[in-house]
Amino acid sequence: MQISVIGCGYLGAVHAACMAKLGHDVVGIDVDERKIAELSAAKAPFFEPGLEDLLQDVQSTGRLTFTTDMSAASGSDIHFICVGTPQKKGENGADMKYVDAAVTGLLPYLKSGDVVVGKSTVPVGTAARLAELVQGHQPDAHLAWNPEFLREGHAVNDTLSPDRFVYGVPGASEDHPAVMALDEVYSTPLGAGTARLVADYATAELVKAAANSFLATKISFINAMAEVCEAAGADVTVLADAIGMDDRIGRKFLNAGIGFGGGCLPKDIRAFMARAGELGADQALTFLREVDAINMRRRTRVVELTRELCEGSLMGKRIAVLGAAFKPESDDVRDSPALSVAAQLQLQGAVVTVTDPEALANAVKRFPELNYDDSVDSCVSKADAVLLLTEWKEYRELDPFVLGGQVSVPRILDGRNVLDPAKWRAAGWTYRGLGRP
Ligand code: UGA
Repeated sequence: MQISVIGCGYLGAVHAACMAKLGHDVVGIDVDERKIAELSAAKAPFFEPGLEDLLQDVQSTGRLTFTTDMSAASGSDIHFICVGTPQKKGENGADMKYVDAAVTGLLPYLKSGDVVVGKSTVPVGTAARLAELVQGHQPDAHLAWNPEFLREGHAVNDTLSPDRFVYGVPGASEDHPAVMALDEVYSTPLGAGTARLVADYATAELVKAAANSFLATKISFINAMAEVCEAAGADVTVLADAIGMDDRIGRKFLNAGIGFGGGCLPKDIRAFMARAGELGADQALTFLREVDAINMRRRTRVVELTRELCEGSLMGKRIAVLGAAFKPESDDVRDSPALSVAAQLQLQGAVVTVTDPEALANAVKRFPELNYDDSVDSCVSKADAVLLLTEWKEYRELDPFVLGGQVSVPRILDGRNVLDPAKWRAAGWTYRGLGRP
């Protein structure tokens, strides 16, 4: 099929490459010239495991091109909208200006029978509004909402073999032309047994908001348990293992630590609350305010624990922070809890040095006032405390004996509860986890 993908960020670049991998002819379109130049040279503009190999693989087939010129969409029958919906400045709601600009920019190139497919995370009601816009311009074009559930760090695999497809079309009609078009686009994963649900627009939009809200709630639930465990002298990691053995609960997303961040969960729960408020259903989501508050409290708690570790004062203390990305296998620092903690420690008088295998360039742009070091060895050298804040594999596997010889005082705060406390204590370290005795 002939496909255009509008917006080539974390979602669109991966989607474009994966659609070409599935055998389609794809053009990726973005207003950012630097991004398009890199993608055209088969370079990933951000760190995502497997993406660069995939770009090289599909570009050699000639099925994938990139451009800043929206008119290139005129050669396609299916147009995926993959632009961002960040939080509005100073408000909880989602900023729709990129989605609106993408669809408006596409209108002049739509032909009869074309299908516009929204993948961006949007407030419920957006698809109906955009469908009117599309059909006001090209009455024989269609609009579908097909939310994306990929995780950064697993984006290629999540796109090629997702858990499920959700298609939002008017009246949830199986016979809608957009359903047939999407079935053809995704024929390979569908053939391999991936489930697909056809829903109306509002339900499809809400599925995404509900899924991210559930995940955020699960993380804040276990972090709330961590607070209680701390007060009671209990161990939240054992508690999570034990409740997670109940199938109905499940162990995934029950890792207590410094909380969730990134470009999705934090802004999505806020946008969901804002939209529910507009719809008069704000009471239904007041619990998400608590989910957000528990999450933000984790960051303050880590700063307080670091102060305790440093004998009551952060002033002039050398703190080594391992991890800047919001999670491992990503260079994304949007709302990264690790960087937020690092910045608060620095504000309170500590001398903070941050290291990360992939995210330093992005971190420097966001927090230029922090010190950065690309080597763990020099980052931890003479440190008064080491904080593990993003659980990259190389940090989980650090040898406490080797590291102990490099720091000034062997104190470690395990912000993700991924180290073995007994091993670190045996090597002479003062170990603190979150929600662990
Ligand atoms: C999230 C969802 O998981 C995806 O399904 C969704 O498609 C995506 O948002 C999106 O809306 O685009 P992502 O932001 O890539 O994906 O990251 P997650 O793996 O969900 O992690 C989010 C945050 O939660 C990270 O900061 C992570 O460290 C934290 N987390 C995760 C925990 O603190 N504990 C856990 O047990 C799991």
